[in-house]
Amino acid sequence: MRMDPARSVHATAPAGTHGSLLAGLATTAAPLDRARTLPREVYTSPDILALEQRELFRRMWLCIGREEDFPKPGSFLTQTIANERILVIRGEDGALRGFFNVCRHRGSHLVEEPCGQIRKAIACPYHAWTYGFDGKLLRTPRPEPGFRTEDFPLNPVLLDTWCGFVFINLDANATPLAQWLSGLPNLERYRLDHMRRAHRIDYEIDANWKIVAENYSECYHCPSVHPQLHRISDVLTGSFHQSACFNGGPMELRPGFSTMSMSGISKTGPIEGLPVEDYNQVHYYVVYPNLMLGLDPDYLLVHRAWPLAAGRTHIICEWFYPRSAVEAPDFSAADAVEFWDMTNKQDWGLCERVQRGATSLGYSPGPYHTAERCVHAFDQWYAQQLTTMLTKEGVEA
Ligand code: FES
Ligand SMILES: [Fe+2]
Repeated sequence: MRMDPARSVHATAPAGTHGSLLAGLATTAAPLDRARTLPREVYTSPDILALEQRELFRRMWLCIGREEDFPKPGSFLTQTIANERILVIRGEDGALRGFFNVCRHRGSHLVEEPCGQIRKAIACPYHAWTYGFDGKLLRTPRPEPGFRTEDFPLNPVLLDTWCGFVFINLDANATPLAQWLSGLPNLERYRLDHMRRAHRIDYEIDANWKIVAENYSECYHCPSVHPQLHRISDVLTGSFHQSACFNGGPMELRPGFSTMSMSGISKTGPIEGLPVEDYNQVHYYVVYPNLMLGLDPDYLLVHRAWPLAAGRTHIICEWFYPRSAVEAPDFSAADAVEFWDMTNKQDWGLCERVQRGATSLGYSPGPYHTAERCVHAFDQWYAQQLTTMLTKEGVEA
């Protein structure tokens, strides 16, 4: 990231036409006991979303899937990020690569399907320019004299992996992924790269993507909204950690419970090699901007929130278990899937209520409870990012 997360919002506000918004962001970024939640525009304004797309989603490392999604050469996945169509594909050499999904001839989108398997090469549906899985242009029909295929490879995007997750970055000058994620706690004990997807559910809800991240970041609402979750997990426990790339912390399972599921009892047992002190802990992390990790003693829950509009978000929820557990003949993730699908739907209803409130003239930023320190951490991070974006936009205007 080229934006400096440590930059003081107070040093940059107010400026130009964004003065009142910058002042609101400065209030969000204040210490928790004096802070107020984010200004309403950040949840409702198409202009703010366009700025986020341009300056956040086109510049940050974004998780687009797992290495297991690309089992062999030609396995691909496409993703729309900030109005850009991206193609990720495994090469004949086994390497994963990301490209703009755009033909170098006259710009046709190359691959329309969300995922799948290409047999031999990537053929453009327009004039049949044909590319290898490594992005090189292999051949064109009736080439003109002097035409050099090597001059027209697909335009690449940065791609890297972490713990089995595949990340891309549309900013060619981005900080390397490993450096960006170096602020995360060490999660090696969860052997995330050995995990395999057991289930996925896609949701679309009428709420801004940040409301989803904020809702994920606190359990102040849990006793009244999630009685099933509150039965299993003690919302008052836990500590809090943060760095430039994440915030979050653990919550304890109540005595007698071993996982977050309808029964609260793990069918598979804890992840192999997990230290005993993690047997009653569930760690929740928001990795900026839109990746949410829930580390149970026996599985990994992942949410990703992709903005579709200022007031609409696509949320992908996935359950991952150790490969040995998923491949066992009697394996079932149903207990955990049912639990989180129920909990998700309880949360989405609240997120949509908050979105409707944010569109009201009666909305004004409110105080944070100390149980919402992770929400405040996320909002502080966002306030700093948006302040930098608005200030840069004002300078460039
Ligand atoms: S636009 Fe792709 S071959 Fe012409
Ligand atoms: Fe919730």
